[in-house]
Amino acid sequence: MAASIVKRVSRVKKLNVSHISARYKLLTGSRHFSTSKQWNKALVLGVYENESTDSIDFTGTARKFDEKADGKISQLLLTVKKPLKCGKTRTLHAVDPEFSSVLVTCIGKRGEGYDELETVDKGRESIRAAVAKAVLQLRELGENEIEVDSCGDTEASAEGCHLALFSYDDLKAEKSRKPAVRISCATRYSQDKNSMEKEWRKGAILAEGQNLSRRLMEMPANLLTPTKFAEIVKEQLADKCEVLVRDKDWAESMKMGSFLSVARGSVEPPVFLEIEYKGRHSDSPLALVGKGVTFDTGGISIKPSQGMDAMRGDMGGAACVAGSLLSVSKLQLPVHVKAFIPLCENMPSGSATKPGDVVTAMNGKTIQVDNTDAEGRLILADALCYSEQFNPSLILDMATLTGAIDVALGAGAAGVFTNSENMWNKLQKASVRSGDRVWRMPLFNHYTKKITECQLADLNNIGGSRSGGACTAAAFLKEFVNNKNWLHLDIAGVMSNSGDVAYLGKGMSGRPTRTVIEFINLMSKETNNR
Ligand code: BES
Ligand code: ZN
Ligand code: ZN
Repeated sequence: MAASIVKRVSRVKKLNVSHISARYKLLTGSRHFSTSKQWNKALVLGVYENESTDSIDFTGTARKFDEKADGKISQLLLTVKKPLKCGKTRTLHAVDPEFSSVLVTCIGKRGEGYDELETVDKGRESIRAAVAKAVLQLRELGENEIEVDSCGDTEASAEGCHLALFSYDDLKAEKSRKPAVRISCATRYSQDKNSMEKEWRKGAILAEGQNLSRRLMEMPANLLTPTKFAEIVKEQLADKCEVLVRDKDWAESMKMGSFLSVARGSVEPPVFLEIEYKGRHSDSPLALVGKGVTFDTGGISIKPSQGMDAMRGDMGGAACVAGSLLSVSKLQLPVHVKAFIPLCENMPSGSATKPGDVVTAMNGKTIQVDNTDAEGRLILADALCYSEQFNPSLILDMATLTGAIDVALGAGAAGVFTNSENMWNKLQKASVRSGDRVWRMPLFNHYTKKITECQLADLNNIGGSRSGGACTAAAFLKEFVNNKNWLHLDIAGVMSNSGDVAYLGKGMSGRPTRTVIEFINLMSKETNNR
């Protein structure tokens, strides 16, 4: 490999020998570079934070490059007095005949790993953020092809690149450019090129899943109706999964009165999606359930108009289920997953459910709907009951369920309510890897009492007061689950990113798709080793 690089470099030199610029000659010493031909290729190299002002702590790949460039990169970096700090970059030009720009990005202190207080792998997070910043800066410079340093964690590096370059511009005349990003600069020097490329691919697929979630969440609700959501999911998943699109009549036949009570206010027909991925056969698949309210006006208990546009993302749970399945199937994980997605709009109209109405869920429980804006739990109630019919080994649901979880945790973590310590440990472990955090919340009987105190029915869909709103919502869902391994993720707080996650950019976040994929990956290893 090294020999072929040397050959390529000398060919480049020969080609351009007649176009030597005096300025570049000065900069690059004995090496000759072309200024007449534009090398539309850039390089990202990582360095560790280092207090020393007379040495640079390069990553493995960066060190090799520096050696190849006769120490030019370290020389140029050391001309600046202040050492690079985590998250900062320096852009160099004309240091290598192959690359028009070499961007050096600081990936934090060497050896950083799990941080107990932050409950995250800091090393991996820093790599994602540093690489993300680097590729965006190079895009600004007009680069179309970028080779990226693995920075010691190829998967995290790939995630950073592919997540940063996402933008939802389907509806704009001017699209943002998507430079091609590759790991080739690092594989040149790697002992194990294949495993590095495999890791790069895994990172890219993890990001691709999250990017699908982001796209679905960002799409305006007039375009992403329940019917359209089902179409896109079919288009994205049908070659690897079985996708069943159930209609209103089917939901009626299943006695999903709770789900249908939300859909009835809208002219858009509801859809219930059932998706199966069989990476292996099992009698007890993993069940995923996602809230798919394609727009939440609040219904008759209508929301204030300010900020209501964000409620196009109220199908975030459904989107994360679809995104997770995309990655799980592309990675061909040896696991059996069944997914259940109730889709509808929550609208006020002459046919909408009214506060005080009583509806009956699939399991026969009656629910007094005192607030039509607490609709997520109503559609999930039936979806959870239905999922139980498939004897799942675990049920994981995701829902942009309550504003209260946003008040409690903000965008810092998704709130997790689970009846299983073991499941909690697994999910938390997955989130440390992904950097997309989770935080455990209580499922006390205290909260159950709040929703079972009901004038007309078995349950009330709100907990009386606003206190502990995320917990009473979870307690409500608990009434529809018998499974001993149930996890409910309230993802309303992490729905959108307003700069909190450096490598995501502003807009709908697609969180916590990668955590769920990692979790499924962990579970697949566990069940296959049994
Ligand atoms: N979709 C909302 C929750 C939400 C809020 C999602 C902010 C994303 C960002 C949910 O359907 C809702 O309106 N919940 C109510 C429940 C209340 C009426 C008990 C809420 O949180 O205010
Ligand atoms: Zn609502
Ligand atoms: Zn909602």
